[in-house]
Amino acid sequence: MARLRSSDPGEEPTDPKVWLAGVFDRAAETYDLTAGGYHDHFGSRLVELAGVGPGDTVLDVACGRGAVLLPAMAAAGPTGRVVGIDLSAEMVRLARDRAGSGAEVHVMDAEHLDFEDGAFAAVLSGFGIFFLPDPEGAVNGFRRVLAPGGVLALSTWGEEDLRWAWEDDLIADVEVVHRAVARPFDEPSELESLLRGAGFDGVEVHRIHHEVRLADADEWWAWKWSYSLRGVLEQLSPERLERLRREATEHIERIGQQVFGQRCSRRLNCIPWTLVDLRQKPRREGELVALAGQGQRFHGPQRQQC
Ligand SMILES: C[S@@+](CC[C@H](N)C(=O)[O-])C[C@H]1O[C@@H](n2cnc3c(N)ncnc32)[C@H](O)[C@@H]1O
Repeated sequence: MARLRSSDPGEEPTDPKVWLAGVFDRAAETYDLTAGGYHDHFGSRLVELAGVGPGDTVLDVACGRGAVLLPAMAAAGPTGRVVGIDLSAEMVRLARDRAGSGAEVHVMDAEHLDFEDGAFAAVLSGFGIFFLPDPEGAVNGFRRVLAPGGVLALSTWGEEDLRWAWEDDLIADVEVVHRAVARPFDEPSELESLLRGAGFDGVEVHRIHHEVRLADADEWWAWKWSYSLRGVLEQLSPERLERLRREATEHIERIGQQVFGQRCSRRLNCIPWTLVDLRQKPRREGELVALAGQGQRFHGPQRQQC
């Protein structure tokens, strides 16, 4: 497996992937440990929607700390094989710790999968597709490693909740060299055309809303450093960071006042997030035959739960 280098905060990497791997290396320690750990919630839903079952071979692309990997292990059981890959060595280390002997986890680029053709019954990727510079190429790679009749399940964030537009407003003036998100894929139609372009049809999009609560402005701040936004924050001057934190704290305290009608309350209102879950099945004739056999499993009762 290829070893990918990652960057230090002060370093000026020219390769966007080296930069991004460094950002996630540094975010990994607190990743998904604030704001109620919603990635674990969405990871479990993705595995359910994909219909992973006992004995399945599963690839989790951009596995992070294992939000998808762990529920996939539970669903595939001792007779299954679960493999996670991620660009960030630190994420891989933490995912390995969590998975124990239940999964293989490798440092690998989602755009250069080092697996045999047709190796997996399911390819899953939670909140990874929007970081990829060449998502079309990546999806072709996902299809290559899928077995006939296999299932691909991706998740991405849906459209922005306007109640959170203030966050963007506070950093609207900021100009940075690197940004993590290459293409947001926050419209179902964009995901559909991405997948149809790679030769898939039967695309399904599921929307899942999940409410997150933050205790206070300190938790909000810790949260902002725990995921890819960290990459933007690391490019700000100490003065600009301090201003951002102050303005955000003031805003959060105002929201608390509106919601609870008392000055000291610092609890934020509920925040619905939207997950777009996308399932698809391969179109090629050979694969369609296999789908007839596997279709029962992937399109049976689990679909009713969506
Ligand atoms: C938002 S996290 C999602 C992690 C996990 N799937 C989850 O749902 O919590 C995105 C992950 O994508 C990884 N990543 C970004 N670009 C990647 C690439 N080209 N190849 C593999 N992993 C990548 C990051 O290192 C990070 O761990």
